[in-house]
Amino acid sequence: MTAQTIVIVGATGDLAQRMLFPSLYFLDSEGKLPDGFRIVGAARASVTPEDFEATAEQSVRARAKGYFTDAAWARFKARLDYHVLDADKAETFVALGEVLKGAGETIFYLSTSPSLYDAISTHLRGAGLVKPGSRVIVEKPIGRDLASSQVINDSLGRTFSEREIFRIDHYLGKETVQNLLALRFANTLFEPLWNKVSIDHVQITVGETVGVEGRWSYYNDYGALRDMVQNHVLQLLCLVAMEPPASLDPDSVRNEKVKVLRSLRPIVGREVERKTVRGQYRAGVADGKTAPGYNEEAGGAPSDTETFVALQANIDNWRWAGVPFYLRTGKRLPNKASQIVIQFRDVPHSIFGGDALAANRLTIRLQPEEEISLTLMNETPSLEGVQLRSVALNLSLTDAFKDQAPRRRIAYERLLLEAIRDNQTLFVRRDEIEAAWSWIDGIVEGWKRFDVKPAPYAAGTWGPAGAFALTERNGQTWYE
Ligand code: BG6
Repeated sequence: MTAQTIVIVGATGDLAQRMLFPSLYFLDSEGKLPDGFRIVGAARASVTPEDFEATAEQSVRARAKGYFTDAAWARFKARLDYHVLDADKAETFVALGEVLKGAGETIFYLSTSPSLYDAISTHLRGAGLVKPGSRVIVEKPIGRDLASSQVINDSLGRTFSEREIFRIDHYLGKETVQNLLALRFANTLFEPLWNKVSIDHVQITVGETVGVEGRWSYYNDYGALRDMVQNHVLQLLCLVAMEPPASLDPDSVRNEKVKVLRSLRPIVGREVERKTVRGQYRAGVADGKTAPGYNEEAGGAPSDTETFVALQANIDNWRWAGVPFYLRTGKRLPNKASQIVIQFRDVPHSIFGGDALAANRLTIRLQPEEEISLTLMNETPSLEGVQLRSVALNLSLTDAFKDQAPRRRIAYERLLLEAIRDNQTLFVRRDEIEAAWSWIDGIVEGWKRFDVKPAPYAAGTWGPAGAFALTERNGQTWYE
């Protein structure tokens, strides 16, 4: 059923201020929040509700920019409340119970370090705040490996049932990710070709220009493989590779995704040296500015954490046998560019003499622009026989839908709305997380066993040379 209240635990933190309050504000200004919906900020800081409102207003203004209006803010502000909550103090949860009297179905958004999930959920239960219809939203990282993710999931599971746990992967809230489902399952064009017979390989790139900035201590403990591949990149891979689900209901979709994750071929033994590449940025130029190296950002402390990873994944099932999936992600790359490239196979026989034919390529770009493009071979106007050239059929989703969606939505808007409506389709189930960790753990073990260290790359480049060798070895190249 529809939730009536959301409690954001960790409400003064970065995620809440940068993403959650602005997203809720946008939902409210578009009339998407239920009547009487309440938003309770909760955190350790003993600030007054007025000070809390002022901070939230600043954050919302900064994000909403031209979309901020006093009228919308006045309506939003009326929903806001603040409560001091300390994960170490059970009594603060009992006091929260007073605030939540008559609150109706309540969502608890744990925007905190996962190390606090156990204490918070135990106190919520202890204070009698978990009732039929309650649900909890949690953020990654759900663990650092399979074993630690199981500890977190077990601990949440003592208070909430799987049906009540909403694990966020914010990539699932991105518009183009949704569009991937539409492209595959609302058109007849691609699905018959979506397999090893017609597809040569798939590339998934999630590139960022930023470094690790203020998050060094978290990041250094995780690295690109755990921070990005275990979740966002593998979720994209699932949506590309999964079988058509029976419907869009949560379990139909998640059953198909988990089958893909379980079909990932483990990267075993010395294969880590051939099928994975680790990199770490050194000083260079990113986004037109000089950028320090990773170790300098940490004050010179030497580290073996990777800020770049490229992998060759294989999916052992009937649809994808023999089709490599190249995955790559990193910080301080030349562009903030996230894209999925479906490279079709070469034409089996050319009737056009010597002209080289470029195989068709479908590119689904998530960032910076939302675009879909399909390259086709075409004849160039000429009297001299048939002269061929590859041209792109481009669809800019940003332009096509600028009337309906004049601004780019924050991924959290969609996810919060789905949680309010109690729909788990876009949230990650426990078995998905665990299957993803099992595969990732195998790679980490290989790195340890064979002492695979990150190779340096200059900030502002596409990673170490090994990343190019990874695809070239199979006669393929990355598309930028
Ligand atoms: C987060 C990672 O999950 O995703 C960050 O922890 C990363 O390291 C971010 O920067 C990327 O998200 P987006 O939406 O900017 O591509």
